[in-house]
Amino acid sequence: MTATITSIARYVPPEVYDNKYFESFLDTTDEWITQRTGIHERHFLKEGATSDMIVPAARLCLEKRGLSPKDVDAIIVATVTPDHLFPITAAIVQKQLGIEKVWGFDMNAACSSFVFALVTACKLVESGVARRILLCGGDKMSSIMDMQDRNQAVLFGDGAGVALIEPSDDPECGLRDFMLNIDGEGEKYLKMVAGGSKNPASIETVTRREHFIHQEGQAVFKAAVKGMADISHEIMNRNGITPETLRWLVPHQANLRIINATAERMNIGPEKVKVNIERYANTTSATIPICLSELVEEKQLKKGDNIIISSFGAGFTCGSIYFKWNSNGYME
Ligand code: UT7
Repeated sequence: MTATITSIARYVPPEVYDNKYFESFLDTTDEWITQRTGIHERHFLKEGATSDMIVPAARLCLEKRGLSPKDVDAIIVATVTPDHLFPITAAIVQKQLGIEKVWGFDMNAACSSFVFALVTACKLVESGVARRILLCGGDKMSSIMDMQDRNQAVLFGDGAGVALIEPSDDPECGLRDFMLNIDGEGEKYLKMVAGGSKNPASIETVTRREHFIHQEGQAVFKAAVKGMADISHEIMNRNGITPETLRWLVPHQANLRIINATAERMNIGPEKVKVNIERYANTTSATIPICLSELVEEKQLKKGDNIIISSFGAGFTCGSIYFKWNSNGYME
């Protein structure tokens, strides 16, 4: 048995912030942001938490499939910005949706959270442990961005995407192969220094602005291109997929130059690369489901299409999934 995505939906907060917004309080320009990142605008959630974006996306996802929340038997929330460190955001989502007799958990693999969770959800369905999993990816990145630091304030946005994972009616389709990797050597380049057990919150950690994202952009940039391209290439090779037989590369959206360099390294033309960073910036765990939901909406996916989904994030975490598209007919 294989597992597949039978429905997918997204929620992005209505408030849009273009690059010019940052010019009033940071030493930056629309031109710099556009040229160095490809980002034009992003959405920030004014009030509320990550679950407040996930819940409407989850409702829409179930509605599209003609199911109600009670039909779900597990909830996974991929996020780096949970509502609280505990309780888990999956439980908050469960309560908001009014689902009973369900289990679930949160998963954090930084920008690879959704990719790692997609593999996990599919394997749980394949093994028969669960039949219908609500796989949620959401992040309120504005809650951990340092708006005084031009090196990262311009890079992220808020959003959520939710996919329903069910057994595929065609065993040749759905999740076909994957490679996931973690490498703690990356710890020093991208992290939130305080707030965990190593550096609990204190007046000092707040004064030192250690509850925000800290990153060395260039080191992350280089590792991201190599990481995503190399394992995606390997996945393609071992499954006999060529740039010609690939339909879509769906990469994590952190920087347009990272996306372009990754595709170039893999010999994949721009017409096969999903890009939406210009409208959302880096939404971390929401990026991949937002991309997929747009492709579905635009009718850009049909049964049998070869898709490579690829991600890279803090850790370093890195993942690549080979998915042969099949929605069991629910999204055709
Ligand atoms: O998914 C994982 C999450 N993170 C990433 O993937 C991020 C990966 N890295 C990147 O996307 C890029 O490295 C950045 C967009 C963060 C930076 O771009 P870059 O081309 O690597 O710039 P840089 O770090 O080499 O900085 C060049 C200059 C510096 O000024 P000086 O030292 O040359 O005077 C920066 O201070 O650009 C400056 N700079 C800015 N200038 C205007 C950095 N951010 C800004 C800004 N506006 N927003």
